[in-house]
Order: sequence, then structure tokens, then C-alpha cells
Amino acid sequence: MREIVTVHAEVLVIGGGGAGLRAAIAAAESGARVALLSKVYPMRSHTVAAEGGAAGVAQPEDDLEAHFRDTVAGGDWLCDQSAVSYFVAHATAELTWLEHHGCPWSREPDGRVAVRKFGGMKRARTWFAADKSGFHILQTLFHTALALPSIDRFDEFFCTGLLVHDGVCHGVMALRISTGEPYLFLAPSVVLATGGAGRVYRFNTNGSIVTGDGLAMAWRAGLPLRDMEFVQVHPTALPGSGVLITEACRGEGGILLNAEGRRYLQDYGLGPETPPGQPRNKTMELGPRDRLSQAFWHEQRAGRTVPSPRGDAVHLDLRHLGAERLAERLPLICSLSEKHVGIHPKDAPIPVRPAVHYTMGGVPTSVDTSTAISGLYAAGECASVGLHGANRLGSNSLAELLVFGRAAGERAAARARAGAPPPPGSALGHAREHLCAIQALRAKKGTVRLAELRDAMGSIMDECFGIYRLGPDMERGLSRLVELRESWSDLELRDASERFNTELIAALELSCALDVALAIGASAAARKESRGSHQRLDAFSVRDDERFLAHSLVDYAESGVPAIRYGPVEITSYPPEERVYGGEAQVGDS
Ligand code: FUM
Repeated sequence: MREIVTVHAEVLVIGGGGAGLRAAIAAAESGARVALLSKVYPMRSHTVAAEGGAAGVAQPEDDLEAHFRDTVAGGDWLCDQSAVSYFVAHATAELTWLEHHGCPWSREPDGRVAVRKFGGMKRARTWFAADKSGFHILQTLFHTALALPSIDRFDEFFCTGLLVHDGVCHGVMALRISTGEPYLFLAPSVVLATGGAGRVYRFNTNGSIVTGDGLAMAWRAGLPLRDMEFVQVHPTALPGSGVLITEACRGEGGILLNAEGRRYLQDYGLGPETPPGQPRNKTMELGPRDRLSQAFWHEQRAGRTVPSPRGDAVHLDLRHLGAERLAERLPLICSLSEKHVGIHPKDAPIPVRPAVHYTMGGVPTSVDTSTAISGLYAAGECASVGLHGANRLGSNSLAELLVFGRAAGERAAARARAGAPPPPGSALGHAREHLCAIQALRAKKGTVRLAELRDAMGSIMDECFGIYRLGPDMERGLSRLVELRESWSDLELRDASERFNTELIAALELSCALDVALAIGASAAARKESRGSHQRLDAFSVRDDERFLAHSLVDYAESGVPAIRYGPVEITSYPPEERVYGGEAQVGDS
């Protein structure tokens, strides 16, 4: 084996997206020496693909209580309410902080920050930079991090495991992708900010890097994963490619039409349609994502979707917004739509359909981002702090990665300052063995092709753990996932090279994705009720607060179907109610 390169830091941040950069900045500003590891160059992190905006109370008509209640109701009461309170109380300050560091939020003509309504919100509170919010947020964080000399970047490093001994995290093992060299990063504090796992499904809006690596690492290191059955399906993506068509289109007034040209969402409890000549009821298209995706499913079953060359779709009509407004508010959507489906939205409706978008479960953390492993923190999509419950509201996640990224960086720096014991020799021996095993995977002689295994996993997830779920399908899916996970050890890898061995990295990513897929499947099959994004068509088609107002926790198993247990949900001030949308109370501004 090649010699291991050892790097010491005070705070180690894994992930160069929004949460990781915010954590690194906060830790550096707290006086820590930071090592920031990223699988890709930070500006290629998946945060860059976010479009619509970030939520934070900004207008006098809005308040923290409204943001809190929208979030809890949106999450079908599976949110931990102290996490939601902390989040809403800090979101606006973070968005303002970002502005002071250069983020060009769109503005009203009178100079106020412009906000738009997103799904499930009773008031407008989504800050945006046209429809390129993720790019501008990431760019602002990246250039802020570049100006801090105490952040050392390690771009294009793939972390293969956490170094945990006796319940304490001491660092990570990693490969430098460009050279294949094994690295050991040691630090008293480690922040996981590795994003979600949308790529375990075939049809999704996520970049190819979103393979659940951090979730799998934490799981293998002994933490349970929480609420993994709750996978968000975004209602509007382009057929075929899964390219996101932002909810901002509907926030700006876009409407969804079925093959009959009808605003079908009025048939799914999100109406009523207002009479001609009156302001349009925007609640329909601005219902929560779970309900809109479910409505598509029913329309498709009823034969009221529009066939498109790359699958069934409904129409997103933006024509009434006019060319000028489209150019100002939705320029990226105009260009994506033209490039991918040859349609300019000023001229014709865009065909759209649901696609997997976001992992609502993750590594369980306290509100302060600490995990049950000392020295290990988690923030952003890989974490389950209890904010999103069973269905995330659009635009809460960009604000989340700032609020909790900052909290993680500050906590991690404080622990580093207090001093922590170094890893024992036996832990270093284990790290060495681990890195040897990883290197031995190159040109592995097996019989299974990587792409086939990856496709099989994605298809099973789409078929058995999609918008609607059935007990027997989930059982079948689980057995198949167990087999697929076993067959990973029989992979055939053909590339023995050390430099940029992307086949090896893809194999390691697939191993993580298979673990996460199994965690999703086992959690879904065990939840015998319907809530938020987890909807069953069998005997468990309604919410059951008596038995399942509880977080699922899935424990790691090296083989077979992992076991599920449940933990309490924290309710502080907003007890469960029926989740109702539509009606007078939510008629949007025209
Ligand atoms: O539709 C969107 O722009 C997505 C936003 C989000 O997931 O928060």
C-alpha cells in the first residue's frame, strides 16, 4: 500500500456545498484551523442547482409564528418543534448575513428584498436571486471562504470512512482522487455536510454526486438513520432528464393543466378555482409538494396526462406572465426549457412531471447539530435535525443549511478549543487496514457490472418506494435490495489505475447508495400508516398518530434487512391537526 498522508486540523468539514462552506466559515471565524474536504470543486456541489430561493420572514405581514406553523403543518406534524423554532428565529439573520457578503437578492422597485410564496406557505417569505438562488448562495459562501486563510481546502477528496473509537470521532479516512493517495485526516471535531441521496432513485433532480456517502459513513460508524422513508418528490421536473423546473414558476403565478386543459389541482383539496375575472387562487399550484406529486399520480392513472416523447407529463403554463417578467424572474427556466425541450415558456406550456428531489431523513442531531458520537456534528441535507418532518416546505432547505451549518461550525470550533484526546494507536491501525482494503478494490475481479447494479437499484426504488407504496411491493423491493447489496462484493472493476480512477469512486459511491436505499426501504416498509411523502395504498392509507407519531430509526446491519425502532417527536406548542390546504384562507395574492 502507498504511504498514508496524515493531515491534522482543529475542525474537519466534510462537504463543500452550502452547509459545509457555512460551517467552515463559522469555525474559521471562531478561531479554528479548518480542513475542508470536498468530493468535487466546491462550486460544483449540488447546492449550485437550487433555483427558487431560501425562506426567512421578511415582510411586516409575516411573522415567526406563521413560518413555524407552516413548517410543522407542512411536515405533517413529524417535525421536532424546538428545531423548527430555532430555525425560524435564525433564518432571516442568515439571509441578511449572506447579503452583507455579496449575495444579490432580487429586490422590489422600492428597494426592499423581494419575496415570493412557495408551496405550503400562507405568506410570501422566499428570498430569491431570480431563479439562480443556489448559484448565488454558493458563490457568496465560496468567495467568503476563499478570503479566510485558516481554511485549508482539500478539493476532490473522497471520504471512505469515519475514524470512530469508543464513541468518539477522531477524523476520516479518504482518497485523493487525482493521485489515488490514501489520506488520514485527524481532528477533534468533524462536521458532516455531505448532502442527500436522491441518486438512489433513477428519476430524480439531483446531480450525479448525490449518492448518500455521508449518510452511509455515519450509519456504518454506528449511528442510526432517522425518518429515511420520507423522500421528497418534487412535482415539476422535465420528463426524461429530471431537470428541476422550480416551484418559483408557480410562486410567480404559473398554473398546472392536465390533458383536458383543466387546473386539476382543484380536484385534490387544493381549490377552489376562482371565477373568471377574479384574482386566481394560487393555493392550488402552491399546495405542498407531497400533495401535488400525488395529484399527478392520480391524473396519470386516470389517463389525463399529456404524452411526451420522454414520458407522461402535465403542462406548466407561464405564458400569462409575459416575456418581460419571465426574463426578470425566471431566466434560467426559460433557458433550460428551450435547451432541453425546445419550448420557450412565453410561447407554450412546459411539460413537467414529478421527480425525486430531497432526502428528508438523515443523521439524527440535536438542535445544536451534535450527534450521539462525540466530536461528530451534521448539518444540511445529510442531517435530520427534526426540521422537515414528513414533507419539507420548498425553500426551507437553503435557509436550513445556513442556520445549521453555522451552528455546526461554531460548536465544532468550541469543542476543538476545549481540547480532545488524540486517537489511540489501535484506531490508527484500523484506519490503515481500512485504507489498504479500499486500495485493493482497484480492478476487482468479479462478475457484476457497476452500471447494471446501479440501474437495478434505481429501478427498484422507483417501482417500490415511489409516490405511493404498497406492502407487497415494498417487501419485494426490500428482498431485491438485499440481493443487490450483496452483489456489490462481486463487482467487476476494469480500471487498475491510481490517478483519477473514477470507476473506483463510482463503486464506492454505489456501495453507499445501496446502504441508503436499504435504509429507506426498511423504514418505509415498517411504517404502517400514511403521512406526508410516505403514502400507502393498502390498509394503511391514513395517518395514525396513535401508533406512528414517531421518528423511525434504522440501525445498521451488515447483511439482511436492518431493524427499525421508533423515537419520540417533540411537540412544544402546535399539537397535531388535520392537514388542510385550499379554501378562502389561502387564496394567494394575484
Ligand atoms: O423548486 C425549487 O426551486 C426547489 C426548492 C427547494 O427544494 O427548496
